[in-house]
Amino acid sequence: MTLALGIETSCDETSVAIVETSANDERTRVHCNLVATQFDLHAKFGGVVPEIASRAHLQKLDLLVREALEETGVSPADLDVICVTRAPGLIGALLVGVTAARTLAWSWDKPLLGVNHIHAHATSAAIELDAAPWPAVALVVSGGHTSLYAVQDWDNISSLGATIDDAAGEAFDKVAAILALGYPGGPIVDRRAAGGNAAAVEFPRSMLRGDSLDFSFSGLKTAVLYEVHGRGRTSGGLDGITDERIADLCASFSQAVVDVLVAKTLMAVRKTGAKTIVVGGGVAANSALRRELAAACERDGVALHLTPMRYCTDNAAMIASHGLRLFERGHRSDLALGASANAAE
Ligand code: KG4
Ligand code: ZN
Repeated sequence: MTLALGIETSCDETSVAIVETSANDERTRVHCNLVATQFDLHAKFGGVVPEIASRAHLQKLDLLVREALEETGVSPADLDVICVTRAPGLIGALLVGVTAARTLAWSWDKPLLGVNHIHAHATSAAIELDAAPWPAVALVVSGGHTSLYAVQDWDNISSLGATIDDAAGEAFDKVAAILALGYPGGPIVDRRAAGGNAAAVEFPRSMLRGDSLDFSFSGLKTAVLYEVHGRGRTSGGLDGITDERIADLCASFSQAVVDVLVAKTLMAVRKTGAKTIVVGGGVAANSALRRELAAACERDGVALHLTPMRYCTDNAAMIASHGLRLFERGHRSDLALGASANAAE
């Protein structure tokens, strides 16, 4: 049995998890996954304020570590490794987690392992599966990232493509802001789309021509602005816009995002020859994406593993789970581990 403590502080969720793997099977067992959201602190600003995020992580993190140990009855001596998100994310927020993990590893005399947050999203669908699903194409769709990866194994992940501007979740959040629906926008747009007609407005599907696996969503956001305020106008009131029209706009916008995500993910499957798709990140909670990917995979005979909803948004279980597999394969970080805002590190 190998036991990890995981710490995640890359953005606006402070999270601590205790996760176990066993030599007898390939399953990862999550003993606890505590998430303290900072939602209320940032909501009035309409987005995450980095300085406020760092301070809130500082206030919460040691309490969560203590709570996780008490709740599971695990003592520091039982742990085999401390795993922490080291990149990418808000640098101040990352540094809170990395500094805490370095301190715990030093004072408890345990190995330390820095984990790439996006790689952890890419493998989060494997948490609680009976067997690892690799090789697979991984689609990571979150507020900060939209990326495709070829995953050969936990420590063999290569990038196939990524967004060149906005992330998919960012586009959802911006469209919600345009329509004054609230923050974070993804879940609200998803809910409003359920009552709308996805064919009401023909929004652009960017970068579908050619064989690039990169994405672009900023043009789509501008198209929504023009649709709401009139051609060439990026501001104005929302007077006279009915609930029905909002539902149609949400459904048509969601469809445009989902069409691109599904088409490119299947293109990645054809390019790599993989027979499995895994999907992680906050936007993996989107109902249209889940539905349409399932239909496409059924049609093409591809296996699909969607990350369980509780591991879609930022959480430490995916950090500990990914870190444990790296640890088992011999990876270690030294106590001088640093943090980086950069996705490639
Ligand atoms: O992975 P995550 O928690 O944070 C990042 O690492 O970015 O993802 C948050 C993003 C937000 O942009 C949020 O609006 C989006 O995921 N999101 C959704 C849904 N639930 C969350 N987007 C579309 N549909 C949803 N149901
Ligand atoms: Zn994330």
